[in-house]
Amino acid sequence: MNDLSRRGFIKASMGSLAALSMARKATAASMNSAVYRSVVGANDRIRLGAIGTGGMGKGDIMTFLKFDDVDCVAVCDVDSSRMAEAAKMVEDARGKRPDEVKDWRHIIDRKDVDAVLVATPDHWHALPTIAACEVGKDVYCEKPLATSIGEGRAMVKAALAHKRVVQMGTQWRSAPHMAAAVEYIQSGKLGKIRLVRCWAYLEWIKNIGNPADAPVPEGVDYDMWLGPAPKRTFNPGRFHFNFRWFWDYAGGLMTDWGVHLLNIALWAMDPPAPLRVTSAGGKYVWDDLSETPDTQHTLYQFPDFTLIWEHEAEARAQLDGREHGVCFHGQNGSLTLWSNGWEVLPGKDSGLEPEKHEDNNDSRPAHVRNFLDCMRSRQKPVEDVETGHYVSSIAHLGNMALLSKDVVEWNPKLERVWGNPAANRMVTKPYRAPWKLPV
Ligand SMILES: NC(=O)c1ccc[n+]([C@@H]2O[C@H](COP(=O)([O-])OP(=O)(O)OC[C@H]3O[C@@H](n4cnc5c(N)ncnc54)[C@H](O)[C@@H]3O)[C@@H](O)[C@H]2O)c1
Repeated sequence: MNDLSRRGFIKASMGSLAALSMARKATAASMNSAVYRSVVGANDRIRLGAIGTGGMGKGDIMTFLKFDDVDCVAVCDVDSSRMAEAAKMVEDARGKRPDEVKDWRHIIDRKDVDAVLVATPDHWHALPTIAACEVGKDVYCEKPLATSIGEGRAMVKAALAHKRVVQMGTQWRSAPHMAAAVEYIQSGKLGKIRLVRCWAYLEWIKNIGNPADAPVPEGVDYDMWLGPAPKRTFNPGRFHFNFRWFWDYAGGLMTDWGVHLLNIALWAMDPPAPLRVTSAGGKYVWDDLSETPDTQHTLYQFPDFTLIWEHEAEARAQLDGREHGVCFHGQNGSLTLWSNGWEVLPGKDSGLEPEKHEDNNDSRPAHVRNFLDCMRSRQKPVEDVETGHYVSSIAHLGNMALLSKDVVEWNPKLERVWGNPAANRMVTKPYRAPWKLPV
């Protein structure tokens, strides 16, 4: 991106908040200087600015603070009460209260922030990540990378253009037992793998009911919560946590859990792009406000194997006795993995030995540590922005097939769908003015 379009982006992303004219000047100035483009030295402390301090944001901040070389200097949330909770949490942990800012652009503008955590709802991942890259900060962005393939591409472009370290928050990528399972699969012991099944049958994902529209809660900047998403009246059912079940903000379980499990499947199989994607599903059991399917099955045809994604919300019956997992069906046997382990079931006369491994450690600290180490070494993190974009794109393709009610044939080079204009239109989501996605 050249200086002119970069300035155009910052201007657009500044939006209509007159109060931010000072910040606008500061950000525009930083675009033209190398002041922020610092590389964290071996002995420097890493200063974190966190955007989005809800369920995951708070968990991520505490994971960063497990490391002595990290300070959290500022927290940001459009909901004052959540931001205050996070500030207190940091103060309790470290004895110093971080600054509290309600507008994420004030995190981007700070010279004392080296790393930005983006743990907002999915529709707010792209702009803060891109803006942070543009001013020379590194980013730990929660999964999925974005709500559309187009947003993900813009994030990749920004990260590469500005040589930033960007890690997507799919922590299983850093779990040693996942790496061991992937190594087993890639050793070829299972023989030819022709089917990979990924599933999330989650009993604890409940019907959200049908709450009515309501006044915006005190202390919430609702217009900023909506951001680039369409304007609509506030409804508590579409807000914290439940944003996942609305197309304007996210992609339902297909992208929420799909990204975690597809990530491991794609890591192990390392395939070229799928040739064809189809998806079926709907709201088969729920009569509530949510929009995304409570039940969905997506079929990916790769050149030499088939991958199936399955999810059910509020599922009492599970698959193979597990609420989630990935099962690799080889000619010699199968390997199933899940968040805390993996096992091999040998096929008849295969000569394989049964194996079972458990690992109950939380994989988030290793994932965050990998990001911090890469900030210092300038190496690619394990779930770098390009991998995150690829994996998130595969999940988005499932929803594009479902919503267009047609097959999706994907051209990965051009990032376009052939012969299905409805799906092709979903490659990028329209943004509500004044927000603009830089392309
Ligand atoms: N890695 C994992 O295992 C994992 C687990 C859960 C959630 N997540 C991801 O974390 C993200 C957040 O999910 P959650 O469950 O914490 O949601 P949440 O609704 O609890 O929290 C999101 C927070 O972001 C705030 N926010 C919204 N717009 C903002 C803006 N413009 N500026 C600043 N703050 C803003 C909200 O007020 C809210 O407090 C999602 O992308 C989700 O997919 C990842």
